[in-house]
Amino acid sequence: MASVGFGIIGCGNIGPVHAAAIALEKRAKLIGVSDVVEASAQKLAGQYGAQAYGDYRKMLENPKVEAVCLCVPSGLRAEIAVACALAGKHILSEKPLDVTTKRIDKIIAATEKAKVLLGCIFQSRFSDDALQIRRAIDEGRFGKLILGDAAIKWYRSQAYYDSGAWRGTWKLDGGGCLMNQGIHQIDLLQWFMGPVKTVRAQTALVGHTGLEVEDLATAILEFENGAHGVIEGSTAIWPGHPARVEVHGTAGSAVLEDGKLKSWAFEKRKPIDKKIEATFDRASVLGSGAGDPLKGLSSEGHRRQIADFARAIREGGRPTVEGREGRVAVNLIEKIYEAARTGKTVRVA
Ligand SMILES: NC(=O)c1ccc[n+]([C@@H]2O[C@H](COP(=O)([O-])OP(=O)(O)OC[C@H]3O[C@@H](n4cnc5c(N)ncnc54)[C@H](O)[C@@H]3O)[C@@H](O)[C@H]2O)c1
Repeated sequence: MASVGFGIIGCGNIGPVHAAAIALEKRAKLIGVSDVVEASAQKLAGQYGAQAYGDYRKMLENPKVEAVCLCVPSGLRAEIAVACALAGKHILSEKPLDVTTKRIDKIIAATEKAKVLLGCIFQSRFSDDALQIRRAIDEGRFGKLILGDAAIKWYRSQAYYDSGAWRGTWKLDGGGCLMNQGIHQIDLLQWFMGPVKTVRAQTALVGHTGLEVEDLATAILEFENGAHGVIEGSTAIWPGHPARVEVHGTAGSAVLEDGKLKSWAFEKRKPIDKKIEATFDRASVLGSGAGDPLKGLSSEGHRRQIADFARAIREGGRPTVEGREGRVAVNLIEKIYEAARTGKTVRVA
C-alpha cells in the first residue's frame, strides 16, 4: 500500500506526537507542518524532513498532502476543517472534534459534501485491552450490563492552564476536566456501555484560579439499556491517578487503568482469560496523562489510529472512529454541563 501523505496543522504540544506517530507508521508519510508561530513549524519540520508553513492554507495547496491532522486549540477547528474539506483533504482531528455539537455539525456537513473522510482521535480505543473489553461485550460475556464508571482523577498545574490563553476558556477549550481531559474515558464508557439516556451532574472550580470552566465534575448516568453509570473528573487532584474505566455486568467485570486491564473476571472462563491476566503488570501502550499532559503520553495510540485512518483512505473504507462517533462524547459532555447548570435531569439522546 502506497503511504498516505499527511500534513499537521498546529505544532504545539500534540502536533509533535502526531509527527512521531506518522514517522513510526509505514502507511503514512509526513509532508508538511504548519503553525501560526512559524518557528514552531520550522522546528518540527526540521526534525522530520517535512516542509514548514506559516499559513496552513498554503499547505493545503500541496497535492502531496492527502490528509491533515488538526492539532490546533479545540475551538478553532470548524473553520480550518471546512477549508481542509473544500481543498479535498481527509481530516483526522484531535479530540474534541470542536467545542460544541453545533460547530461539529458544520465539520461533518462540510466533509460529507466534499466526500472526504473525517476521523476523531480517541487513541484509547486502540489499546489491546480496550479492544478485549469491547470483544467480550459483543460476545455477551458480561451478561446484562448494569454499571459503568469512568474516573479521571488527574492533576494539571496552574502553570499548565496559564501556558496558553485558550486553556480553560469556554470559547476555545469548550469546558474543563471533562471536555479536555476526561473525554477519552467518557468516549470509552459510551463505546462499552452504549448510548446514555439521562444525566444528573454537578461541576465546580476548586483547585485553580482564572478558569471559566470546571476542574471538578461528577455525573450520574442512566444508559439506554437500563444500566447505571458514574463519571468522576478532575484536574485538581494531586498527584493524579491512572484514568479508570469499569464495566460491570451480571456475569462479569473488567477494570481498565490507562488502557491496561487490571481486573478481568467472568463467571464462565475462557482459555484466553489466563493470557490476559498474565499481562496485568505490563505497562500501558498509551502511557498516562495522570500528572502531566505529555510527559507520560506515548505516540503508539496515535500511530495505531493514524494507520487505521490511512487504511480507510487507501482501501475506500471508513475510519474506526468517524466524525459522528466523535460528536457523541461532546454531546454527552454538553448535557452534563446543562444538568450541572440547571440542577435538572437532562435527556441526552
Ligand atoms: N489525544 C490526546 O491525548 C491529546 C493530548 C493533548 C492535546 N490534545 C488536543 O490537541 C489540541 C491542541 O492541544 P495542545 O496542548 O497541543 O495545544 P497547544 O496550545 O500546545 O498547541 C496548539 C498549536 O496550534 C497553533 N495554532 C493556533 N492557531 C493556528 C492556526 N490557525 N494555524 C496553525 N496553527 C495554529 C498554536 O500556535 C500552537 O502551536 C487540543 O484540542 C487538545 O484537546 C489531545
